[in-house]
Amino acid sequence: MTDYRADFDIPRDLCYLNAAYMTPLTHRQVAIAQEAAVRMSQPWDVRQVDFFTQSEAVRARAAQFFGAQSDNIALVPSVSYGLSIAVRNLRLAAGQAILVLADQFPSNIYPWRRLAAETNAEIITVQAPDDQDWTKAILSQIAALQDRLAIAAIPQVHWSTGLQIDLAAVGDAIKAAGAQLVLDLTQSLGAVPFSVASCDPDFVAVASYKWMMGPYSTGFLYVADRHLDGIPLEENWIARRGSEDFRRLVDYQDGYQAGARRFDVGEKSNFHLMPVLEDGLAWLDRFAAGEIELRLRDVTAALAVSAERAGLKPAHCAHRSANILGLFVGADAAQIAARLQDLGVAVTARGETIRLAPHLWVDQVDLEHFGDAIMRI
Ligand SMILES: Cc1ncc(COP(=O)(O)O)c(C=O)c1O
Repeated sequence: MTDYRADFDIPRDLCYLNAAYMTPLTHRQVAIAQEAAVRMSQPWDVRQVDFFTQSEAVRARAAQFFGAQSDNIALVPSVSYGLSIAVRNLRLAAGQAILVLADQFPSNIYPWRRLAAETNAEIITVQAPDDQDWTKAILSQIAALQDRLAIAAIPQVHWSTGLQIDLAAVGDAIKAAGAQLVLDLTQSLGAVPFSVASCDPDFVAVASYKWMMGPYSTGFLYVADRHLDGIPLEENWIARRGSEDFRRLVDYQDGYQAGARRFDVGEKSNFHLMPVLEDGLAWLDRFAAGEIELRLRDVTAALAVSAERAGLKPAHCAHRSANILGLFVGADAAQIAARLQDLGVAVTARGETIRLAPHLWVDQVDLEHFGDAIMRI
């Protein structure tokens, strides 16, 4: 078996189960980041074409993870940035509803709160279901709202519990209700297969520093064809038609670059981070579709067995994702996470849940390390 741990600089006595917090850069990415910094010490070698080539390569690689075309992908620095673009371009009338999930990540809450307040619309929060079946709970809320539902803004995998939502089923119900679908796939894309064909979302935002193996401050926004003539958040020069020709930048243009490029963040060429991001996507690219999910499912299953043996309650296997395993431990969650940390196991406590988020660097030694630590606690 390939030793993926060797690609990363993770100390042997650390069991790092925190990919949902942040993924470490690989050794190669660190070298590439250093090269990029050196290159920027010599800007006389930066050519005009370089403002476009690397970002286009990243866009093309990223598009594959969405099952989309490059033209539908914008380069954004964060989920909040991407979702602010969605807010600006969706239909919503007074009295209509925006559906979100309880305890959803705040970047996928605050933009909707502002929009709802400005429009006199209502946020409807689906409560965490006792049986852990978010899909059923969401479908029943959609049915209850009927044509009042304007927007559903949800994830594929809940960031704190790892419970997974069947986006194809939800997408069908949203379509039938005539509503719009916005996704935050930060805690799944790269680890869990996805295709826009499965649910036809309007917008999909992803931060890349977790499961997309990218550096912090980079991300993607998928924009459906029907929004490609929308209004960007900012009016940056490089997003305008003809910006490749630096001699003619003051021949101001009303038109934009093709497709979703109009929504790109300013200075999208990001000479320091783009090469690092491209290499992270290339690291993921070596795996066949679904292969990472399959491998991670084995890892989370092994972690669940250890947790159960120690008397803890892992998320139900029928509803949990392959990449994030929630342990429902109650009020002691923060204390247990701190004790795991003391024993060299990095996890996160969120509310009453401990979140285990392994990636392919987790090996047999790590699994035994976790098993011993949780048993001792
Ligand atoms: C589900 C989810 N969305 C988004 C983010 C990051 O949001 P932003 O890029 O706006 O900082 C996180 C970070 O933990 C997250 O877990």
